[in-house]
Amino acid sequence: MGVENVVTGLTKTFGSQTIWRDVTLTLPAGEISVMLGPSGTGKSVFLKTLVGLLKPDAGSIVIDGRDLTRMREADLYEVRQLFGVLFQDGALFGSMTLYDNVAFPLREHTRKPEAQIRRIVTEKMELVGLSGAEGKLPGEISGGMRKRAGLARALVLDPEILLIDEPDSGLDPVRTSYITQLFIDLNAQIDATFLIVTHDINAARTVPDNIGDDHRPARAGHRPEPRHRHDAQGRAAAARQRPDGILTLAGPPRKVAPVGAYCTL
Ligand SMILES: Nc1ncnc2c1ncn2[C@@H]1O[C@H](COP(=O)(O)OP(=O)(O)OP(=O)(O)O)[C@@H](O)[C@H]1O
Ligand SMILES: [Mg+2]
Repeated sequence: MGVENVVTGLTKTFGSQTIWRDVTLTLPAGEISVMLGPSGTGKSVFLKTLVGLLKPDAGSIVIDGRDLTRMREADLYEVRQLFGVLFQDGALFGSMTLYDNVAFPLREHTRKPEAQIRRIVTEKMELVGLSGAEGKLPGEISGGMRKRAGLARALVLDPEILLIDEPDSGLDPVRTSYITQLFIDLNAQIDATFLIVTHDINAARTVPDNIGDDHRPARAGHRPEPRHRHDAQGRAAAARQRPDGILTLAGPPRKVAPVGAYCTL
C-alpha cells in the first residue's frame, strides 16, 4: 500500500550555504507526488536526506510513525529497506552486468538463495522491458536502458517508497514519455508511495494529472499543506505543496523564472 512520509520543518545547510529551509510536506501513501524545481535548488539533496544519506540540520522525517532523523545507524539501515531509489545518474556499477547490478540489493540486504534472486531479477527486468539484456554492461546500452536498469534495481526489494531523481535526464522526448508512463503503470501495479523529482514542467504535469483523473479519484484525504518560508536574504529554496499534489522547490527569486506558473516565490 505504500507508507505516508511526513516531512516537517526540514532544513539543510552545507557550511554557510543554506540549501533549503523549513520544508514541510506530506507524501500521501500509495500516491505519486512530484517535486518540481530548477537546477541547483537542492532536489537531489532532498532525496538523499529523505533516505538518511544526508543529515538535516533541523526538522523531522516521519515514516511509518518513526522519525528517521533521530534514528541510530542500525535502525536507519533497516528503514532504508523501505526505499527504492533511482538516482539521477542511474548509479549503476560499470563493471557489473545489468543482472548483477539489479541483483545487488538482494545480495547485500537479504539471504535469499540465488535461485530466488534469479526469479526476482528476471521479473523486475521484464517489468521495465529489459528482458534479454541481462548480460550487458552499463557501457554497452543506451541512456534510457540504463535508467530502466536503475529502476529495476530500485524495485527488487519491493519498496514501500520509490524515489526517482530526474527520470528524464539524458533521455529524448519519446523515451521520456515512455518512462513517465512506466511510472504510472508501476504505481498502479506495486502501489508504493512515489516521489518523482524533476526540473521538467511537462513531466511534472503529466504524472499527477494522470493520477488525479484516472487512478486516484479519491484524493479527499489528501491534505494540502502550503508552507513557504525562506531566510532573510531569500537564499534558501522554499517548498510548497499545491492542492493538486505537486510539490515545488523554488530557488532564490532570480532563479525561478523558468518554472512560470509553478513558482512559489
Ligand atoms: N555533498 C555536498 N556538499 C556540499 N554541497 C553540496 C553537496 N551536495 C550538493 N551540494 C550543493 O547543494 C546544492 C543543490 O544541489 P542538488 O544536486 O541537490 O541540486 P538539484 O536541484 O538536484 O539540481 P539538478 O536539477 O541540476 O539536478 C548545489 O549548490 C550543490 O553544489
Ligand atoms: Mg539533481
